[in-house]
Amino acid sequence: MTAATVWINGERADSLSALDRGLHYGDGLFETVACVNGRPRLLSLHLARLALGCARLRLPAPGPQRLRAGIEQAAAQADRSIVKLLVTRGVAVGRGYAAGAEQGSWLVIRYPWPEEDAALARSGVRVRTAATRLGENPALAGLKHLNRLEQILARNEDSVIEAEEALMLSHSGRLICGTMSNVFLVDEAGGRRRLRTPDLALCGVAGVMRSVVLREAAHEGIAGSECALTPADLDSAAEVFLTNARIGIWPVRAIDGRALAPGPLTRGLQERLAPLLEGADA
Ligand SMILES: Cc1ncc(COP(=O)(O)O)c(C=O)c1O
Repeated sequence: MTAATVWINGERADSLSALDRGLHYGDGLFETVACVNGRPRLLSLHLARLALGCARLRLPAPGPQRLRAGIEQAAAQADRSIVKLLVTRGVAVGRGYAAGAEQGSWLVIRYPWPEEDAALARSGVRVRTAATRLGENPALAGLKHLNRLEQILARNEDSVIEAEEALMLSHSGRLICGTMSNVFLVDEAGGRRRLRTPDLALCGVAGVMRSVVLREAAHEGIAGSECALTPADLDSAAEVFLTNARIGIWPVRAIDGRALAPGPLTRGLQERLAPLLEGADA
């Protein structure tokens, strides 16, 4: 069992009501916050995405100061940890989908930092394209909501089980993301290097590390763009990398068996992000 420590609605506890709508319907949102030197990394970005999601789903949630304090106190008790925040609509007032006067539940869960092969960030990861596709729904696009069945199906496909990550297409065939990451492509157009990441207007999670990478690339004079991409763009990319709040940047070294080398733009961004990943203020 994972050695996790749990706080529910601000108190140490291990169980949640069986009537919570998060459990019944996935009616909620979450954030996975990487914590180093006892401090949550990129916390303001995580809380901003959560607040946006709460507004879009009309989820009741404690104010950001309370959530921030809950996450910070969990993070302070370990040098490195992963702190997951879940916000659900709470214990159902009635039966059925209609929301009532629910109070909302919020959970803070601290996990040990996973043991991981440091070579993944250096040498890169192997990815496979999953057969499972993402439904397209602008009402949910970008949100880190609790419904993750598509990612579970994709991650457990026989052909991707050996790979470090699976890439996912949307139903209409667009490249969107990895099961736990966002994806970036580097290629050349008109003699200039381009950095592109899928537009997430129809599906996918708008990752905090994705926004940090776009921001830091812009500081380096590299204009990243969000656009509609397909598997053909993947085939012609010179560099591909994945991002999430914990891993930072993972270069991709093979896609469906095609070998790729981690390239200079990826390396440059990894170097630029290194202090931030070690806990420097974002
Ligand atoms: C489906 C999905 N997309 C993207 C991401 C990356 O998001 P972030 O950079 O906020 O970690 C995650 C992270 O877990 C994810 O699960």
